[in-house]
Amino acid sequence: MGHSEIKSGDAQLAQLNEIVMIEKNAHFSPWSIKSFDEAIKAKNIFKVFLENKKIFGYYVAIIAIDQCEILNITIAKEKQGIGRGNLLLKNLISLCSEKNISNIFLEVRASNVNAIKLYEKNGFNEVGIRHNYYQKENGKEDGLLMGYTFD
Ligand SMILES: CC(C)(COP(=O)(O)OP(=O)(O)OC[C@H]1O[C@@H](n2cnc3c(N)ncnc32)[C@H](O)[C@@H]1OP(=O)(O)O)[C@@H](O)C(=O)NCCC(=O)NCCS
Repeated sequence: MGHSEIKSGDAQLAQLNEIVMIEKNAHFSPWSIKSFDEAIKAKNIFKVFLENKKIFGYYVAIIAIDQCEILNITIAKEKQGIGRGNLLLKNLISLCSEKNISNIFLEVRASNVNAIKLYEKNGFNEVGIRHNYYQKENGKEDGLLMGYTFD
């Protein structure tokens, strides 16, 4: 049995089709290929994680002065719940720490309990709420604004 090898790197245009397939399976409102393409062109932080050369997750974040906002963090549906989200979030936190970032922010659907647990576990706190911010199947739902502060 070969042991699995996890690697990461900056997203490449040639990876976007594979990323969009993962995105569609993982999100209620998935990003389009155009959004990912723009993230690369805008030089956002866009990291892709692979196991045995197959993409299992990625994150997109934007840095403005000393603030970082997570725009997308996704683990492929079939790889969720086994610590991969935790791995990606810790990777981003240490990257921000190297860049002397003061705070990380993100917004999450109030119903996304797995994501909220992941963020809380890693030291994020709820800092605000945007009522009826997200569209859902029948109606709207709140967006929670969460933040992480470096000491
Ligand atoms: C949210 C997401 C990134 C989490 O990644 P993941 O690899 O599934 O999560 P992990 O396995 O690293 O788990 C981290 C923590 O999240 C919580 N969690 C994750 N999956 C869970 C599940 N199926 N049931 C209960 N809790 C869960 C747990 O608290 C877990 O900590 P623990 O292992 O100590 O119990 C991933 O599920 C995902 O991509 N979801 C779809 C896209 C999305 O919602 N992105 C976030 C938008 S803001």
